[in-house]
Amino acid sequence: MRRLRNLIAAGVLSVAGLTAGAQASGDVAVPPAQEWAHGGVNSFLSFFKGYDYAAVQRGFQVYKEVCAACHSMHLLSYRNLHDIGFNEEEVKAIAASVEVTDGPNDQGEMFNRPGLPSDRFKSPFANKQAAAAANGGKAPPDLSLIVKARSHFEDYVYAILTGYAEAPADAHVPPGGNYNKYFPGNAIAMPMPLFENGVTYADGTKATVPQMAHDVVTFLAWAAEPKLEERRRVGIMAITFLVVFAGVMYAAKRRVWADAH
Ligand code: HEC
Repeated sequence: MRRLRNLIAAGVLSVAGLTAGAQASGDVAVPPAQEWAHGGVNSFLSFFKGYDYAAVQRGFQVYKEVCAACHSMHLLSYRNLHDIGFNEEEVKAIAASVEVTDGPNDQGEMFNRPGLPSDRFKSPFANKQAAAAANGGKAPPDLSLIVKARSHFEDYVYAILTGYAEAPADAHVPPGGNYNKYFPGNAIAMPMPLFENGVTYADGTKATVPQMAHDVVTFLAWAAEPKLEERRRVGIMAITFLVVFAGVMYAAKRRVWADAH
C-alpha cells in the first residue's frame, strides 16, 4: 500500500516537475510523502499501526518550546498528556509551569495561578487580533486540528516546516513574507521556526531540523486524531464480525433451502 502511495506520489511529482518549467514561477510544490509510524491520520488501510509515542513526546517538547510562542492548541488539556505516556507528577509539573488567569474571586477580581492538569493549553495571545498584530497581520492558526485541516495532512505540515529556502530571483515575496516552497503563493508570514539543536531532547535524539519537524508533526497528528488506534481496533472488530456473520447467514441459507430443489 505504501509502495503504491509512493509510486503515485512519485508520478505526481514527476508530472509536476515536467509542467513546472512551462508554468509561471510561484507554483506550490507537492509535499513529498514521508514515512509515519502510525501510517497517517487519513490512511484507512494501515490497520495495525499505532503512534510512536517516543516521537509524540519529543514532538510535544518541540511544540512547547518553539511553536507555543505563537500557536495555540485550544482543544488540548494538560491532562491529555497522560495518553502519550507522561505520569501524574509530570503532567502536574508541566501544567504548573504556566501561569493562567482565573477568577473572578470573592472581590470580583481576576487573578493568576499556576496551571492545573484540567486547564486547557495556554494560548500565547489574548485574542485573534493580538495574535495577528504581533505577526504582521496574519494570526498563527490554532494547531489542534491542523494536520486534518490541510490536504496532504502530515506530509504538508512537515513540508511547510522544512520548505524554507532562499527565494529564487523571479519570486515575488512581499515584505513580512518568507519564501516557502510548499505554502500557497510561496510567501508565508511564519518565519522559519526550526533550527538545528533548537531543543535538547532528553532521550539523546539528535535535534536536526528534519527530526524536529517529523516529531512535532507526529505530535500534531496525535492531537488531531488521539483515538486513531481505538478507531482502527473497532474497525477490525466490526469487519471480523461481519465476515463471521456472513458465513453464518450463508450456512443458514443453505440449510433452509436444502429441501427446495
Ligand atoms: C514567530 C511565530 C511563529 C512560530 C514560533 C511558529 N509559527 Fe507557525 N505560523 C505563524 C504564522 C504567523 C502563521 C500564519 C502564516 C500565514 O498565514 O502566512 C503560521 C502558520 C503555520 C501553519 C499553517 C500553514 C497553513 O497552511 O495555513 C502551520 C502548520 C504552522 N504554522 C506550524 C508551526 C509549527 C509546527 C511550529 C513550531 C515548530 C510553528 N508553526 C512555529 C507563526 C509562527
